Amino acid sequence: MKETRAQWGSKLGFILAAAGSAVGLGNIWKFPGKAFEGGGGAFLLMYLLIVPLVGMPAMLAELTVGRASQSNVVDAFGKLGHKRFAWVGWVGWLAAFIITGYYSHVGGWVLRYVAAYATESGSVYADPLAYFYRMLGYDAAAETTFFPWVALVFAAVFLIICAVVIIRGVEDGIEQFNKVGMPALFVILIILLVRSVTLPGAQEGVKYMLTLDLSKVNGQTFLIALSQAFYSLSLGMSIMVTYGSYLPKEENMPRNTLLVCVMDTLVAVVAGFVIVPSVFATLGAEGVGKGGGFAFVSLAGVFQQMAGGTIFGLMFYLLLLFAALTSTVSLIEGIVAFLIERFHWKRTPTTIGLCVVLFLMGCVYTCSQAAYPIHGIWFDFANGLSFPLFCDAMEFLTDRVLIPLSALGTCIFVGWAWTPKTAVEEITRCGVKFRLVRTFSFLIRFVVPAAVIVIFAVSLFTGTTLS
Ligand code: PHE
Repeated sequence: MKETRAQWGSKLGFILAAAGSAVGLGNIWKFPGKAFEGGGGAFLLMYLLIVPLVGMPAMLAELTVGRASQSNVVDAFGKLGHKRFAWVGWVGWLAAFIITGYYSHVGGWVLRYVAAYATESGSVYADPLAYFYRMLGYDAAAETTFFPWVALVFAAVFLIICAVVIIRGVEDGIEQFNKVGMPALFVILIILLVRSVTLPGAQEGVKYMLTLDLSKVNGQTFLIALSQAFYSLSLGMSIMVTYGSYLPKEENMPRNTLLVCVMDTLVAVVAGFVIVPSVFATLGAEGVGKGGGFAFVSLAGVFQQMAGGTIFGLMFYLLLLFAALTSTVSLIEGIVAFLIERFHWKRTPTTIGLCVVLFLMGCVYTCSQAAYPIHGIWFDFANGLSFPLFCDAMEFLTDRVLIPLSALGTCIFVGWAWTPKTAVEEITRCGVKFRLVRTFSFLIRFVVPAAVIVIFAVSLFTGTTLS
């Protein structure tokens, strides 16, 4: 039985969808903080070397596996005649599944902040930390917890938006959504950039980001840049294999890979030039941070002090929202594609069912946040499993075990089992000349696996935090 497989309707559609997956919370709230800690210019330089040498060959490899196999990630390796590698697909699929549970809930929090800046920025500014806690079900003044229904309602809405996009399908849903969302994201980013660098006192921050302090280049910052590149480019999580499988045969994959990587890196770097200078100008250099606490709590101080801050704050959370939505959509599509192909389920019920499961998984995550400030736990089944610990364990499992393992498996597959020669045949099917055959083979066989093994070993065995 031969079914026609979904395909991207246009070249731009694919590029924007893949860039939409890559450009996510990681670019906007992780990269600037990491660049700051890594010494600004020194970190940027390292990152700009890592993306072409490690990120691009790894992405090209994933896309090629997808397009050659015309299959979801779990079945891809078997379809290419190497059933032994099916575990690589399972590992990537599982990582996507676990991550989507919490990524979608964080997306819900972002949506909550869009609403907050649009309607009640005053209450955020009054006490940003208390506001954030309240959303998650913790009353800081009374030191009590309550059911975090606000966060959960917004997470549900966020997932419903994603589900609608996925149900509409690859071309009419994902592609069209990204065609609107990504340009909107670029426009907002540019407006924020102009606002940030023209703030009085922002120059120091700009200078910091451009200064090359070579003493900051060390093994640790290098590893942080490396793992950031993997996360930021959405590698090791089944997504690029799935998105690659919807690529028509005449597409020029090396060029698409280049464009996606350039866009993702550009957004990260520009976000760095939005965040670092504006924090320098308002809170001072010590104010720069990363992650959720920074984006939801510290930045309130920045927007509060800036002329027109509320409107720029609103734009900032809209930017985060688009970034989170397009990434979550890609994660869910990677999971759904497998379920509908393997079990012949229909797209609509599968997506709805999956989103319900993801919502429930994420509830564990959101609910566990509330009690951190008090006992570090939320539900304590008579001192049974502590959920924050459970969440930490999940994060450890995905970021430190599953993602590197799947990335490693994919490059070993392409580099040694399927061989770069076969990959290049697939790449050049469109009739385009691929000039970097030897470079690609060398990178995918030696450089990329070595890089992944180093991240893997260091973060797993030394307990070093790379996030
Ligand atoms: N690349 C996304 C980011 O930078 C994260 C992500 C990883 C999204 C994998 C989807 C899949 O935030």
